[in-house]
Amino acid sequence: MTVTFHKLHPHFVAEVGSLDLRRVHDRHTLEEIRAGMDEYGVLVFRDQPFTDPEQLAFAQRFDGALHVNTGAAVLGRNRFGNEALTDISNLDENSEILRADDRRRVYALGNRLWHTDASFQDPAGRYSMLSARVVPPAGADTEFADMRAAYDALEAAMKAQLEGLRAHHSIAYSRQTLGFEFSGQEEEKLKGAVHPLVRTNPRTGRRSLYLASHASRIIDWPIPEGRLLLRELLEHATQPQFVYRHAWRPGDLVIWDNLATMHRARPFDDARQRRELRRVTTLDIDTPAPV
Ligand SMILES: [Fe+2]
Repeated sequence: MTVTFHKLHPHFVAEVGSLDLRRVHDRHTLEEIRAGMDEYGVLVFRDQPFTDPEQLAFAQRFDGALHVNTGAAVLGRNRFGNEALTDISNLDENSEILRADDRRRVYALGNRLWHTDASFQDPAGRYSMLSARVVPPAGADTEFADMRAAYDALEAAMKAQLEGLRAHHSIAYSRQTLGFEFSGQEEEKLKGAVHPLVRTNPRTGRRSLYLASHASRIIDWPIPEGRLLLRELLEHATQPQFVYRHAWRPGDLVIWDNLATMHRARPFDDARQRRELRRVTTLDIDTPAPV
């Protein structure tokens, strides 16, 4: 099966030609999709009517181990009873819209900050696969930023300055910037992780900035200087020329490389309209062989 890609942005993002991912099992096709991920960073697949088990199975055969230690897990079990299936919705366990002051809603508002999934873990998140089930009529888009193009556009002196730097990533930090408070016991479970500020794709050699709202400080730097550098890089990387905005349709599956992109959710009328998506994220471990 030949996979075709139609580029949607000057730097990154492609829509993939007609393919039913539920039926894609052969190694060759899976490797073509991975090559597309390496080239475009974000792939859009239309008309993918996944059930939850089908989405989980596809993620595993495409990229292996699944991320389960989500930040939301410290607030309680998710409504699917499976932490590998992240609930990207504004609904409670009875499928009712969450109240404005519900802790789960306030926590989820953090997804409106630029971030990469699971950077507060080690191993970090690699590919996220977001399946749109119910989409509100307006808003609720997701924006993506190309962190490879952003790195390439840095001046040489800045690239030299970034060499070897590492950042600490903490979901407790990013949520606290919006005023969300964790109990001491919850925070105990959210220690965070340290990752390089510049990552290199092992298959292409291409470098990218690795930033997020979760990035709390630069290791071995004074906190203010580190946060200023992180803020400067974030502002640089999210300039319009590096950003693609995805307008969801029901049935979309979008896969993005968390090591090469950032993303954020855009607001919608979440007190009145339902939005229901499911995310599965794989881990950045060295055994990505598709089966
Ligand atoms: Fe996310």
